[in-house]
Amino acid sequence: MKDTHSPFLRYIILLQPPFFSPCLTNNTNFSSKVVCYVMTRGDFTRVLGDLQDILDGKVQKRAVRASQIAQKQKVTYQLDQLEVMNVLGEGGFGKVKLVKAMDTGECYALKAQGKKFIIDNGQKNYCETELRLMKMLKHPNILMMHCAMQDSKYIYFLLDLLPGGELMHILELKGKLAEDWARFYSASVLVAFSEFHRHRIAYRDLKPENVVLDARGFGVVVDLGLAKQLEVR
Ligand SMILES: Nc1ncnc2c1ncn2[C@@H]1O[C@H](COP(=O)(O)OP(=O)(O)O)[C@@H](O)[C@H]1O
Ligand SMILES: [Mg+2]
Repeated sequence: MKDTHSPFLRYIILLQPPFFSPCLTNNTNFSSKVVCYVMTRGDFTRVLGDLQDILDGKVQKRAVRASQIAQKQKVTYQLDQLEVMNVLGEGGFGKVKLVKAMDTGECYALKAQGKKFIIDNGQKNYCETELRLMKMLKHPNILMMHCAMQDSKYIYFLLDLLPGGELMHILELKGKLAEDWARFYSASVLVAFSEFHRHRIAYRDLKPENVVLDARGFGVVVDLGLAKQLEVR
């Protein structure tokens, strides 16, 4: 059947309760095929965003962004092809540094984890799982890994650069987030988790340090060091 709906109408049709509530009429001959849905302007904006944005096609631009990430090519480099710059962050298991590819000038993040630390702390399986899962996943709200390298002391993951800093940093700056900001970052995490669960992955390390913002301010879940993929039954 030909789809004649505008993108705007398609969005509305796709929405499910509880955002829409069936409007009951007094008509006793109410046909089971006709259901009238109502939605307040506030709920509409909360769920779909600004109507003018939708009409201007900005919603479609967001979809384009997701497809651009899906098409993004992974790069492969050796350590001596990368210029190490600043430290971007530090977690319990490793340091993440800003690096620049010498051939293209493109910047990436390089996560280094000490081999001795991994062995001494029984982290070998976790590190292998992190590598396997990150290689497999490609989603706009989950950190993308390009390639892995090693030298005698460290295992390295070359990662997409997320220049917006940790959500933790925003919480420290702002104290408490306004409700719409909180909803926005929660939505970023929620879509990342939907993707994890689609692959039967339990993430197991959700905290504001592990949500880092990309160049456009979207929340991206990083650090699959504790993630576990459940076996398919
Ligand atoms: N791709 C990235 N771009 C920018 N900063 C990053 C990136 N990945 C991680 N970071 C920063 O480094 C910190 C530690 O990285 P993470 O992978 O969580 O290491 P750990 O496993 O040691 O916790 C993060 O909390 C974040 O601040
Ligand atoms: Mg971490």
